[in-house]
Amino acid sequence: MNNTKISDSAFRAVIAGTGSFIPEKQLTNEDLTKMVDTNDEWITTRTGIKVRHIASDNQSTALLATEAAKKAIQSAKISPEDIEMIVTATVTPEMVFPSTACFVQEMLGAKKAWAFDISAACSGFVYGLSIAQHFVISGKYDNVLVIGAETLSKITDYKDRKSCILFGDGAGAAVIKRGNANGSRGIIYSTSGSDGAGWTALNCPAYGSRNPVSKPLENPNSVFMQINGREVYQLAVRKIIETVENCMENCNMSISDVDLFIPHQMNARIIESVAKRLELADEKVFINIDKYGNTSAASIPIALDECMQQGRIKKGDIVLLVAFGGGLTWGANVIEF
Ligand code: UT7
Repeated sequence: MNNTKISDSAFRAVIAGTGSFIPEKQLTNEDLTKMVDTNDEWITTRTGIKVRHIASDNQSTALLATEAAKKAIQSAKISPEDIEMIVTATVTPEMVFPSTACFVQEMLGAKKAWAFDISAACSGFVYGLSIAQHFVISGKYDNVLVIGAETLSKITDYKDRKSCILFGDGAGAAVIKRGNANGSRGIIYSTSGSDGAGWTALNCPAYGSRNPVSKPLENPNSVFMQINGREVYQLAVRKIIETVENCMENCNMSISDVDLFIPHQMNARIIESVAKRLELADEKVFINIDKYGNTSAASIPIALDECMQQGRIKKGDIVLLVAFGGGLTWGANVIEF
């Protein structure tokens, strides 16, 4: 487990701008009823999802990521040349290599930046913010770009009703800027954890070194995401609550100090059950899964950007981002705006 507090640093890791990009094409619950044996009522009551967005054939992950990044850069009022590091969180990369982040760097013209991807599934963006926080509060960098971007539709089995109703495509981004100790406290605290023993609950096994592209696949379906929904559901509720409690303890806060809770959008029922157990008031819990489905690493930055656009985050607010996903991985960031 890795925990980072701002402690005595002279510098702050401030969210200076956010952006998101959602592909136009929609896949509704009604559309899915024509593909698998399902119905709107089941999907809505079990997941809260109504619509997800699907990338077109020529919309790759780097393209979605770049569009979101452009908006974040614009809202931070910097130029691409100001960015020193690009971290892209994704499980649906542009290629095996180079990294999606390198494609983004080229498309943005962020010539000064070094760029790399992180693979932490749904926790990718909170891991990314934690990495950015380290580099910024150490005084190393002034501007870091963190992106969560996914084209999950490309690894979704649209014949499997248990999984295909869940996932959507999209991207979100944030510029993390170096501030000083007199301004907003920015990212106050980050925590990240992993448990590799739980990898079987959630994975996409094909075409890595274990099941290489050079050999016929034992199971042709292994090119698609495999999920044990029930298991993930229970683990997610438990781990998200534990992670929030860890944040509150390490920040000397109580849950009533949190102004806005932005969890990974995995399932509205998971979010509601976590919120109830933490005694978080409904108006402090942000849910937009109805519009996008689960977009893995993109879900938190898309939600964060929506909250900024909607004016739901005011100066001085404490915002709590929490994620859980494949790996297993989990993490959180406590941010003062
Ligand atoms: O971000 C990480 C990735 N996300 C996840 O891993 C998702 C986490 N898990 C979940 O969100 C929920 O477990 C699901 C939404 C996937 C499933 O909800 P559930 O309440 O756990 O349902 P279940 O898997 O226990 O299935 C209940 C019933 C089953 O029928 P029987 O065996 O009781 O007759 C399923 O076959 O619902 C059936 N079912 C469906 N029915 C209509 C499963 N999928 C569907 C469907 N439409 N799409």
